[in-house]
Amino acid sequence: MAKKKSVFECQACGYKSSKWMGKCVNCGAWDSFEELSDEQIKISRQIDSSGKKTKASPITQIKEDLVSRFPSGDRELDLVLGGGIVPGSLVLIGGSPGVGKSTLLLKMCANIAKSGKKVLYVSAEESEGQIKIRANRIDANHPNLYLLPEIKLEDILSELSNQKYELLVIDSIQTIFSEEVASAPGTVSQVRTVTFDLMRIAKATKIAVFIIGHITKEGSIAGPRVLEHMVDTVLYFEGESSKDLRILRGFKNRFGSISEVGIFEMTKEGLVSAKDISSKFFSKNRLQAGSAITVVMEGSRPLLLEVQALVSESSYGNPKRSATGFDTNRLTMLLALLEKKLDLPFNQYDVFINIAGGIKITETAADLAVIAAILSSFRNRPLGSETIFLGEVGLTGDIRDIHMLDNRLKEAAMQGFKKAIVPSKPLESAGIKCYKVEEVSKIIDWM
Ligand SMILES: Nc1ncnc2c1ncn2[C@@H]1O[C@H](COP(=O)(O)OP(=O)(O)OP(=O)(O)O)[C@@H](O)[C@H]1O
Ligand SMILES: [Mg+2]
Repeated sequence: MAKKKSVFECQACGYKSSKWMGKCVNCGAWDSFEELSDEQIKISRQIDSSGKKTKASPITQIKEDLVSRFPSGDRELDLVLGGGIVPGSLVLIGGSPGVGKSTLLLKMCANIAKSGKKVLYVSAEESEGQIKIRANRIDANHPNLYLLPEIKLEDILSELSNQKYELLVIDSIQTIFSEEVASAPGTVSQVRTVTFDLMRIAKATKIAVFIIGHITKEGSIAGPRVLEHMVDTVLYFEGESSKDLRILRGFKNRFGSISEVGIFEMTKEGLVSAKDISSKFFSKNRLQAGSAITVVMEGSRPLLLEVQALVSESSYGNPKRSATGFDTNRLTMLLALLEKKLDLPFNQYDVFINIAGGIKITETAADLAVIAAILSSFRNRPLGSETIFLGEVGLTGDIRDIHMLDNRLKEAAMQGFKKAIVPSKPLESAGIKCYKVEEVSKIIDWM
């Protein structure tokens, strides 16, 4: 008789091996291997090859799918989704605990229910009564919105066949389990099986499915990476639960671009699309030494941000550099540059950078503002509250062009700024006075 082949799978990353291992060679997790049952091996093969056999045909003979969309009832969410919800699509929303995932999706469900579609909200984490409290608070009551507190996938699928739903929300994927798989909810095999079944249902019945996913300490969605590969769209909900602003960012989207972000404000009545977002992240009237304003692009939208710096004498031999919302390596580079070009003794000073509002800057266009904030704190001299700083700083100390300069200047002018320090003159006059600086050393002259 042929010997049965065993398959072991890492429960942290999904790596498979024919032998049990104490430490995963793929992700480094300890004691994470579990042996798969025959049933699990069958399912995982099915998922890997995604099932049915079809014949290939020339692309010239293939008719394109018509992608229709319906609005989610929220301007910001529509923007991130690429113009609305696509029937039959699978959307994964990840975010840290308490950031507002359930709030966002419950409100979206209510909006869609109000537009005449039947919606099913499955919650495995909270009771009906708990969700009702939230629904009352954020005004999400409508007879077309159905609640199902359930953790068993088979029961959810049977409820789906009872009524003609057009939208399904799963809160959250880590708490749902399928009877076909023996392991506990949240394990690789469970998450994969449940998502695979949901995807099958979504494609077959054209129900749009939204899945909430918890994120790990490292900030990625808990469970296997395959989850992100399987779904059509992955969105991350960012923001600190202690602050009111939330950013919804596209990470992958098969039906649209991922360059746009959605910006929300958490209020007692739930999340609202942040109106007039550009002025939310700075207060012009209270600008003190160590603050500089810059404009970053979030998708196609310019956003004014306040960069704060604190430079204080270091009491130890090893000066501290720390940045929140800005790349620490880049900060170290900028400080080394200031030391070399301006002969400033930053090796004896601790330097801290913070971007107000809990936003992360991913562009180099804010370099000049960081430098201005550092110098302002070092000299203890406030920068004028009517000035913005734009420009990338190169390793040689030159200040380089940035993209979409005109858009940024226009936004700053609209918010009442009068002066801009820029790497090059804008093509059209933006209603703001521009001073061109080409060298880091010139910024000191200007100050
Ligand atoms: N009465 C209230 N007033 C203002 N804000 C509230 C109120 N109740 C809840 N919130 C906000 O809602 C947040 C919780 O939102 P929600 O439950 O949607 O988050 P979540 O991302 O689903 O969290 P979890 O991961 O725990 O499921 C709280 O952190 C708080 O900011
Ligand atoms: Mg929740």
